[in-house]
Amino acid sequence: MQLSEKIKHAIRDVQDYPKPGIVFKDITPVLADPSLMHEIARQLKNDFQSQKIDAIAAVEARGFIFGSILAHELNCRFIPIRKAGKLPYKVRRREYDLEYGTACIEMHEDAIQPGWQVLVQDDLLATGGTASAAGELIESVGAKVAGFSFIINLSFLPGYKKLQERFGVNPQYLI
Ligand code: PRP
Ligand code: ADE
Repeated sequence: MQLSEKIKHAIRDVQDYPKPGIVFKDITPVLADPSLMHEIARQLKNDFQSQKIDAIAAVEARGFIFGSILAHELNCRFIPIRKAGKLPYKVRRREYDLEYGTACIEMHEDAIQPGWQVLVQDDLLATGGTASAAGELIESVGAKVAGFSFIINLSFLPGYKKLQERFGVNPQYLI
């Protein structure tokens, strides 16, 4: 079976979570399958190893899982972007809308150096609010968004187009 089929097969759709009308893509069965996670790690490494990337940035919580795997695979820095109030040092902050609410993320102001090429990794692209806010934080310190990588793209939502138009890159995704 192809990797994309294996991922689709493993993901559990949960109806009406966390709000009526939302079909929540539950990735916990993917995380619980070591052989599938190993294959995902290999695929992500393969997709990005030829690109010049100085750091992987990811938003908690689910983004941390795949972001740190990719940073490890590429032997490159991992930059945590966290929900408001969690980082201890001086931060830059962005507020944004989600498919099911609003959120606010922060990044340490000295986490990324000007001129770095930074790839944003997350588990899922929906409206693009989270990834856009992460990209804006990266640009706000004078670094460049090298790309966006997701496991899942919810293609019925405008996230892909939003990131393409705002950052001039084609987001990559596995399913
Ligand atoms: C989810 C997901 C992405 C984001 C995608 O995170 O992990 O980060 O939503 O949605 P968007 O494209 O509309 O911004 P969530 O904020 O639910 O937090 P979690 O990872 O802590 O569960
Ligand atoms: N983040 C935003 N929309 C989501 C969805 N439908 N399933 C899982 N995570 C999400």
